[in-house]
Amino acid sequence: MSPNKKPIESLKLNNGLSIPNVALGTWKASPDDCYNSVMTALKSGYTHIDTARIYRNEVSVGRAVNDFLKQSHLKREDLFITTKISPFEFQDPENAILDSLERLQLDYVDLYLMHHCVAEVTGEGITPRDENGFRKHISPEVFSYVDAYRLLQNLVAKGYTKSIGICNINSPKIQRLLETKDLIPPAVVQCEIHPYLPQHELVEFCKANNIVVESYSPLGSTGAPLLQDSVIVEIAQKYGVTPACVAISWAVARGTVVLPKSTTAQRIKENMFLIELDEEDVNLIGSIYKRMTKRYLEPKWKINVYDSDADFNPLT
Ligand SMILES: NC(=O)c1ccc[n+]([C@@H]2O[C@H](COP(=O)([O-])OP(=O)(O)OC[C@H]3O[C@@H](n4cnc5c(N)ncnc54)[C@H](OP(=O)(O)O)[C@@H]3O)[C@@H](O)[C@H]2O)c1
Repeated sequence: MSPNKKPIESLKLNNGLSIPNVALGTWKASPDDCYNSVMTALKSGYTHIDTARIYRNEVSVGRAVNDFLKQSHLKREDLFITTKISPFEFQDPENAILDSLERLQLDYVDLYLMHHCVAEVTGEGITPRDENGFRKHISPEVFSYVDAYRLLQNLVAKGYTKSIGICNINSPKIQRLLETKDLIPPAVVQCEIHPYLPQHELVEFCKANNIVVESYSPLGSTGAPLLQDSVIVEIAQKYGVTPACVAISWAVARGTVVLPKSTTAQRIKENMFLIELDEEDVNLIGSIYKRMTKRYLEPKWKINVYDSDADFNPLT
């Protein structure tokens, strides 16, 4: 079967702006690797880069973006740069974004995401931990993710970010934001989503509420374990493409933005190659979780931050 190649497309956000549906992920990319991979990505045609305060590579992302813009006919507004506020910064988002912009050497970001739905104590480093290694959170009764989000929205009015959103959230928590008076609805929700954790309920909920979903760890995170899955391998053989192409194209077929990370030049280029999957294959990949469900990322908190998602509930 010869594959039907698909281009990277832009999706409309609920504030009228657009977001490219494939981004380069940069988590765990060391500063040098990060500079090279962002440069490779931009030169290859990516226009969307995903970083975060906690990845400690915003300086490299910014250097690569600015160096690229000097050499290219593209302008800053042709690129889409996302960074994330860390939980230890939630109580002072203006300082946090100004620090990120300084590291990035940019006047604004396109998307500023709350990295989690729980705030952490300030003044004890980037990932404050107790003696048992648990991240030190602030009780949601004292300062909740809604309180943090309320402060974040002022950054749009100030022009530091074009859009805001939240990571690692579930539908009931989004519903609470949507029902809270005087809050801008999140433009984007970024969560772990892949064939072992398809989060069907969350994706449908966001679609119904006009929120763009971003699928992180689309290959199963470090080492790309999903690429060994027998169904994905079989579908890749059927279309004559790589398993990575199938996993990434599946995320796109569901209408989500996908964020594959690589620091390998050839893979960065490969991960832009999208195909049109038949509906039956999209559904088949979407049912793999019935055989195998796995969440790859679970930060160590004393409270459960991933509660009540229909597809996966670590408490039950
Ligand atoms: N908001 C959040 O809390 C959060 C959490 C996790 C991730 N994210 C974002 O989502 C991005 C992606 O998630 P992720 O980094 O966890 O994992 P991922 O993209 O699912 O997988 C990355 C791994 O796959 C390998 N890989 C990439 N392309 C490949 C290919 N074509 N063939 C074979 N192996 C390939 C990479 O190796 P090499 O690099 O060695 O090539 C790396 O080991 C992150 O980088 C970050 O930007 C956000």
